[in-house]
Amino acid sequence: MIQIDERLKHIAFIMDGNGRWAQKLGKPRQYGHRFGVEALERVSRYCRDLGLETMTVYAFSTENWKRPQVEVDAIMKLLEQYITKMTRTLDDDRVCYRFIGDMSVLSPNLQKKIRVLEEASSVYEQTLNIALNYGGREEIVHCFHELIAEGKTQITEEDISRTLYTAHCPPPDLIVRTGGELRLSNFLMWQSAYAELYFTDVLWPDFAEQDIDAAITAFYSRKRRYGGVVSGS
Ligand code: FPP
Repeated sequence: MIQIDERLKHIAFIMDGNGRWAQKLGKPRQYGHRFGVEALERVSRYCRDLGLETMTVYAFSTENWKRPQVEVDAIMKLLEQYITKMTRTLDDDRVCYRFIGDMSVLSPNLQKKIRVLEEASSVYEQTLNIALNYGGREEIVHCFHELIAEGKTQITEEDISRTLYTAHCPPPDLIVRTGGELRLSNFLMWQSAYAELYFTDVLWPDFAEQDIDAAITAFYSRKRRYGGVVSGS
């Protein structure tokens, strides 16, 4: 198993390619999402075992509602099943779940299940953020609303950071996108400012431990300068 150190605290994943994976097998897109959930379970277990402090996954964006209704329904059903399963296996998994995004449009039943899982898992230290009805622009607008409600007339970067959905965790050090596309698609817009980006053609349902190792190896080969200079270079 690859070793990580304090330079790598947070990896975020854009889980892309489920639909194409299913199409290659002549199956409906939903079939790919089902195996996408299996990949999520595999990846989160591995990241936990690596000792990673935070992992974030992009499960459903504010734009994904535009997909065909059968696909949206299938993803919501998978999500509900996933939450039920994670609530049951909490003490084996030992991960703290946090949902980030605008939950207000989800069914009251789903919102309740989310709250129960978040509360019950809050004793664990390693965090899995699940971005759901999440959009980076929506998140920044949400910050502004919070700050207006506080009566602010001047705002700082610190004000934005503390009102983000991810205020409880450090920004991502590494963002991994599967499925071959080279963009961030409105994911963690504020938080990604200094993240290292890693793109792979592997489709999400096929994404496995060795692919995480490859992403981490690439991360450690980068020189992070944060706009400064690295001494000795
Ligand atoms: C991208 O693949 C994937 C999504 C938009 C949804 C991600 C969902 C999962 C991994 C499963 C659901 C997760 C939970 C927690 C229930 P795509 O459909 O855009 O694939 P494509 O680019 O090949 O069309």
